[in-house]
Amino acid sequence: MPAPPQKVSTEVSVGLGDCIHDILSRLRIEEMQTRGHRLDKGDVLIIREAVPDDAPRVMAFAEATSRESDFISFGPGEFGYTETHERAFIRECELSPGSLFILGEIDDALVSVLTFSAGERPRHRHAGEFGVSVRRPAWGRGIGGLMIDTLIGWAQNGGNITKINLRVRTDHERAIALYRKKGFAIEGAITRAVRIKGEYFDQYWMGRDI
Ligand SMILES: CC(C)(COP(=O)(O)OP(=O)(O)OC[C@H]1O[C@@H](n2cnc3c(N)ncnc32)[C@H](O)[C@@H]1OP(=O)(O)O)[C@@H](O)C(=O)NCCC(=O)NCCS
Repeated sequence: MPAPPQKVSTEVSVGLGDCIHDILSRLRIEEMQTRGHRLDKGDVLIIREAVPDDAPRVMAFAEATSRESDFISFGPGEFGYTETHERAFIRECELSPGSLFILGEIDDALVSVLTFSAGERPRHRHAGEFGVSVRRPAWGRGIGGLMIDTLIGWAQNGGNITKINLRVRTDHERAIALYRKKGFAIEGAITRAVRIKGEYFDQYWMGRDI
C-alpha cells in the first residue's frame, strides 16, 4: 500500500456545502458495504471506510504487501509509521472531505487498502492522488478494480473532487492496464522516481477527470 501522504493540519476551512456532499458520498459507501461485491468461488468483498481501530491491521497489511511486491513505495520494514501515527492519519481521513481511506475485506480478512488525499489549499482542493494495494493471493479477482470504482463513485457523488491522479512505475504493466481500464490516461513521466538497491525506475503520472 502507499505511504500515507503527509498532512500538515486538520484545521482546514471547509464550507457547509462541501460537508453535505461528503456526508452523502460516505453514506453511499455504507450502502455498498451492506450489499458487498460477489467475487469468484462464492466470496463476497466488503468495501468499507477505515476507522482508527483498524490501524494495527493496516500496518500488518502494509508489511505483508511490502514483501509481496516491489511496486509499492516502501520495502519490508520501511513503512515508517507508528500505530499512533496511523490511527491519527485514519482519523484525519474520516474528518477531511477531501480524503478517503477504504478497506476491502473477505470474511473479515483484509485483502485491499486504498487511500486518496486531495490538496488542502483552495487551489488544490479539487484534485488528489491515490494508491491501492491488494494482497498477492487475491490478485486478478477484480478487487483492485472494485476499490478504484468505489473511489470514483465517492468522488462523483461528493461533487468536490474533479481530478484524480496517481503515480505508477512505467514497468508495472498490470497496474497500468487496470488504470487505463478505469479511465486513467498517462499524462507525464518522471525519470529516476524510485531507487531500489541502487537501481532506478521511472514513473508515469496518470490522471482521470471526474
Ligand atoms: C496492481 C494491483 C492493485 C491490481 O489489483 P488486482 O486486484 O489484481 O486487479 P484486478 O483483478 O481488478 O484487475 C487486474 C487487471 O490487470 C490487468 N492484468 C492482469 N494481469 C496482467 C498482465 N500480466 N499484464 C498486463 N495486465 C494485466 C488486466 O487489465 C486485469 O483486468 P481484467 O483481467 O479484468 O481485464 C495489485 O496487483 C497489487 O496490489 N499489486 C501490488 C501493489 C501495487 O502494485 N499497487 C499499485 C502501485 S501503482
